[in-house]
Amino acid sequence: MKKNTVTLTDNRTGETYEYNIINASRGPSVLDIRTFFADTGMFTYDPGFTATAACDSTITFIDGTKGELRYRGIPIEELANKHSYLETCFLLLNSRLPSKEELTDFDLEIRHRAYLHRGLRKLFDAFPDNAHPMATLSAAVTSLASFYNEHLDMEDENEYLEMAHRIISKIPTIAAFAYRHFLGIPFIEPDLDLSFTKNFLTMMRAYPGGKMHLLPNGHAAIKEVEVRALDTIFTLHADHEQNASTTVVRGVASTGAHPYVAIASGIAALWGRAHGGANESVIAQLEHIGSVDNVEAFIEKAKDPNDDFRLMGFGHRVYKNFDPRAKILKKLQDELREELNLDTELMTIARKIEEIALSDEYFISRNLYPNIDFYTGIILTALQIPKSMFTPIFVIGRTVGWITQWIEFKKDETSKIARPRQLYTGE
Ligand code: SDX
Repeated sequence: MKKNTVTLTDNRTGETYEYNIINASRGPSVLDIRTFFADTGMFTYDPGFTATAACDSTITFIDGTKGELRYRGIPIEELANKHSYLETCFLLLNSRLPSKEELTDFDLEIRHRAYLHRGLRKLFDAFPDNAHPMATLSAAVTSLASFYNEHLDMEDENEYLEMAHRIISKIPTIAAFAYRHFLGIPFIEPDLDLSFTKNFLTMMRAYPGGKMHLLPNGHAAIKEVEVRALDTIFTLHADHEQNASTTVVRGVASTGAHPYVAIASGIAALWGRAHGGANESVIAQLEHIGSVDNVEAFIEKAKDPNDDFRLMGFGHRVYKNFDPRAKILKKLQDELREELNLDTELMTIARKIEEIALSDEYFISRNLYPNIDFYTGIILTALQIPKSMFTPIFVIGRTVGWITQWIEFKKDETSKIARPRQLYTGE
């Protein structure tokens, strides 16, 4: 019987070391090298953690080769097409989809927690009107730690789930208030009668006093198709294994800091254009390209090793195939084209980029495909959401993933403070 181990030989000394293989339920197995430094006096070297499993998790699974994504084992296609974002939140937190009654109770609890403490509102006044909503969002979420210091008992499931529900519920209100502050217009209070996603769109768009039932041209101020599109976008962003911002959230969890400052750290990490900030950069890039005639020249810039220009919305650390979320969004774009007047110049430029990049050797040889951010921006623009709010929308979707990962870390008795080592090459 073959042993489930790997043996390494140090050819300088002839010493051999044997390490156990731990098999995954899906995807790659891992080599358990926790004693490697004690055994060999050496560290392993993996900047960017391209081949390193940082934890044992049961939440989300990605198969980068197949382009597969599952939350608690359920394929993302099933969740995006048949379930609401709130059902997906319940699934991530409880490892199963809710019954009808459970969903009603969960929905009601999330609606009731959407209000912000009056003291928290004053924070927005400290920011200049044109403050990027991500800066305000991160600061406001950090300050939640000073408003809520209870419900942190990891021994009591009701306690920490209440902490989780609260942050899931308040993030859309904070994001909408950050946007209204950015515009210099009054805040719109959450409305208990509205669903999670419709409530967010109303807080973003309503006129002072919340009145917006009909616009001058008689169109409903918020169309159901818009609510469904945004709800799907939230679902597609809900979690994604150990991506950069989730790694930061787990790192902050490992020091024992308040869960809400861990979420605020995730927001800060997500802002970068290599990560969640890419959706905003995609639209900025399409606007910069400006015309279909310029696409070829910009593709050449993206391929030029001496030019740090990169095609925003292309490439991914894990997906070496089409990002399954991108496929769902591409289909959603096609469905919405008539209803939301998606056929804009930006859309034409985006389609030209996609057509060229998907047949170009440079992108094919590097497995560079459109990722979720390539398509999100076009749909959000059609929902009249400005690009400065694209990453806050990503935050709203991802908060449930971050807090679920935080809980999993805290419940793992083997978890330790994050403290990587280094290859020292200094004096
Ligand atoms: C998200 O991790 C997650 O799960 C993240 C996310 C989530 O849900 O949490 O999926 C969300 O962040 C999606 C990714 C959004 N970012 C972008 O769209 C920004 C553009 N993409 C890149 O910056 C890049 O592709 C990354 C950061 C996404 C991935 O970078 P890697 O895995 O470190 O790959 P790499 O930089 O080593 O690139 C490999 C090669 C290089 O060329 P060579 O040195 O081999 O010649 O591909 C090239 C890169 O130059 N390359 C690109 C490119 N992305 C990679 N060339 C042009 N345009 C690009 N977009």
